[in-house]
Amino acid sequence: MGLTIGVDIGGTKIAAGVVDEDGSLVAKTRRKTSASDPGAIQAEVADAVAELRADHDVDAVGVAAAGFVDATSGVVLFAPNLAWRDEPLKDDLTRLIGLPVVIENDANAAAWGEFKFGAAREVDDAVLVTVGTGLGGGIVVDGRVLRGHVGVGGELGHVRMVPDGIRCGCGNRGCWEQYASGNALQREGRELVAKGSAFSARLSELCGGDPDKLRGGMITQAAAEGDPAAVDLLADLGHWLGEGMAQIAAVLDPALFVVGGGVVEAGDLLIGPARAALARQLTGRAHRPVIGIVPAALGNGAGMIGAADLARAAQ
Ligand code: BGC
Ligand code: NA
Ligand code: ZN
Repeated sequence: MGLTIGVDIGGTKIAAGVVDEDGSLVAKTRRKTSASDPGAIQAEVADAVAELRADHDVDAVGVAAAGFVDATSGVVLFAPNLAWRDEPLKDDLTRLIGLPVVIENDANAAAWGEFKFGAAREVDDAVLVTVGTGLGGGIVVDGRVLRGHVGVGGELGHVRMVPDGIRCGCGNRGCWEQYASGNALQREGRELVAKGSAFSARLSELCGGDPDKLRGGMITQAAAEGDPAAVDLLADLGHWLGEGMAQIAAVLDPALFVVGGGVVEAGDLLIGPARAALARQLTGRAHRPVIGIVPAALGNGAGMIGAADLARAAQ
C-alpha cells in the first residue's frame, strides 16, 4: 500500500525503484542513459517503470532529473551534461506512463530524501552536494527544499570557484563542478596517467595504459588499496568540496553538509580533506561551530527515494 516509484536520471545511468511510505526501497532496476538522445531517455524511463509496475501497484512516479527543472511545468529548461533543452519531461512521461508524474532536480530530490529519511533527519537546515557526472546541490531551509523563483535555485555546481577557470558544460568558466565532480576526478586522473610517470603506475595498470579508459571507479579502487596517486586525486577533490562548502556556508549557515554520489564510497579519503578545507575557510571559524560533513545515509538511492516521496506528497 502507498507505494510510489522514484527514478533518478543521471549523466550515465537511470536508476528506478519502488519506495514505500517509510522511504524503504522495495524493488529496483536500472538502465543506461543515452546522454545525447532525450527521446531515448524518456523511453528507457517508461520501460523501467513498466518493469517495476509488473510486480507492484504504485500511485505515482517521481523523477529526479540532472538539470534545471521548472518546478511548475515540469520542463527541464537546460542540462549541462545531458541533451535536454526545454524538454517537456513531465508531459512526455505522464503520457508514456499513464500515472501522475512529478519532476524535480536530482540533487533537490536527494536533499529531500536525506532530510526526510537519511543523514539530515535531525536538522532543519542542510545542504546536500552530489558528486557525480556533475556536481548537484540541494538546499533545505527551515525544512523545505529551496527552489527559488523558477525552480532552478540550488544549482551549486555552477557557482564560480575559479575566475577564468576550466570551461563548464553550462558555458561558463570556473564552475565548482569543474573541480569537484566525478568528471573532474576522471579528468585529473587521465592527465596524471598521460604523464607516464612511475607515480601513476597503478592507475595506468588499471586502465590498461590508456588514459582515456580511466574511470572514477578505478581511482577510488586504487585509493582504497592505498595507492598514493589515487589518494592524492581524491584529496584534491575533497579539498575543492570543502572550499566550496565554506562559500555556501557564508550564505546559508546550514547545520550539516551531506555528500552523495558514487565517489562517497571513498569515505574519509574524500571527506577528511573536505572537512579540513571547510574548517580552514569557514568565515568566523573561531567563533562558530564547525559544520559537519557526512556521507548520504541513503547512498546512491537518495535521489530516487526523495523523488518517490515528493511524488507521494503531491497526490
Ligand atoms: C546540473 C544539475 C544537477 C547536477 C548533478 C549539474 O551539472 O546543472 O542540475 O543537479 O549536475 O546531476
Ligand atoms: Na539543485
Ligand atoms: Zn557550469
